[in-house]
Amino acid sequence: MSTGHPELVAAIASEISASGPIPFARFMELALYHPQFGYYMRAPEQPQERIGWQGDFYTSSDVHPILGQALAKQAEQMYRLLGQPHLFTIVEMGPGKGLLAKHILATCAHRYRSFFQHLRYVLIDRSPAMRELQRRNLAPWLDRTDLLTWVDDLANGAPQGLTGLFFSNELVDSFPVHRIQVTAKGIEELWVDYQDGGFVECLMPLSSDTLVHRLRRVSADWPEGYRTEVNLRASEWMKQVAQHLDRGFVLTIDYGHTAQDLYRSDRKHGTFLCYSRQSINEDPFLRVGDQDMTTHVDFSSLAATGEEQQLQTTGFTNQLSFFMGLGVEQMIAELDQDSPQFKAAIHLLRPNGMGTTFKVLIQHKGIQHPELDGLRYKPFFRSALATQSAA
Ligand SMILES: C[S@@+](CC[C@H](N)C(=O)[O-])C[C@H]1O[C@@H](n2cnc3c(N)ncnc32)[C@H](O)[C@@H]1O
Repeated sequence: MSTGHPELVAAIASEISASGPIPFARFMELALYHPQFGYYMRAPEQPQERIGWQGDFYTSSDVHPILGQALAKQAEQMYRLLGQPHLFTIVEMGPGKGLLAKHILATCAHRYRSFFQHLRYVLIDRSPAMRELQRRNLAPWLDRTDLLTWVDDLANGAPQGLTGLFFSNELVDSFPVHRIQVTAKGIEELWVDYQDGGFVECLMPLSSDTLVHRLRRVSADWPEGYRTEVNLRASEWMKQVAQHLDRGFVLTIDYGHTAQDLYRSDRKHGTFLCYSRQSINEDPFLRVGDQDMTTHVDFSSLAATGEEQQLQTTGFTNQLSFFMGLGVEQMIAELDQDSPQFKAAIHLLRPNGMGTTFKVLIQHKGIQHPELDGLRYKPFFRSALATQSAA
């Protein structure tokens, strides 16, 4: 089995040989986002693709345009609730191939024409290869001047003082995470070393005070051997998002849980997974740079960080309930029940699959108590996300 992309393996090994073992979060950052050789940063070798049925994993927009249609409907309601501003900006972060943007724009152009006249769409993706794919998939929309803008980093060039919607689908699960384990010494962190031509993990003290503080907040009665992950990057990201938004909403879709569920003591192995060719494994030291790595999202920390930054939690629900609130029954009633399109749309709603593993967090700023159709059905109690400070 391959250790991975040779130049990437050499680059990580060289960093380790210069300064010693690195925290797992740094290893994951390099494996996925090394500027030249990282998994997301390189154009995939032909005819492979990263995301899609022929790729390593697929996302909702590969299944059916229905998520883009529902998001367009939700965005149009947000635009009305904000008093129909002259400019309403949708910022999508981590758009991957740009298919959701394509579905949202098509729906707005055909069903919500007045809204579409006031719409600007900003795509933020740190991967040049992904930005290139997005441009290709959105080519029909490039003619309308000022509709689309690309930015490679939220901290660098993204518009400030926005009125509109900031959204992401499967972004936060792709942020590098710290991994920890309970040992006889207490809680230790997984660091990565390079020995005899391969990467190995070693347990060492926690790498930062921020991690210590976060663990104080989330740790429960964990048994020895318990492993889990902490996504500190997600909180930094939420802070930045809040600072860019003046009036409007943040909508985050991803697989994940409340902190109470994510960090319960019987979830002994955490949620870290690697994806390659539509199959799952748990070994990050195989195919380094040639497979994706993900973890489930801690939505409580996202909500708590937002609240510290004047982003109120509008609501938290799952994908199935989000779709139901936005009238999915009508959307799928238009499809032939024996058609592949109908089966694909149903796949996104499965109560034992994507319908419930995927969650939707919506936050707002500069608007009082908005009532959103996507949050009409909330299977979780309001207190489910209640948290102490985010740390
Ligand atoms: C799993 S893909 C998302 C797929 C896409 N949203 C969809 O629905 O198909 C993750 C994407 O996020 C991008 N990404 C990850 N971290 C980022 C960051 N900090 N800033 C901008 N883009 C990021 C990656 O380059 C990649 O395109």
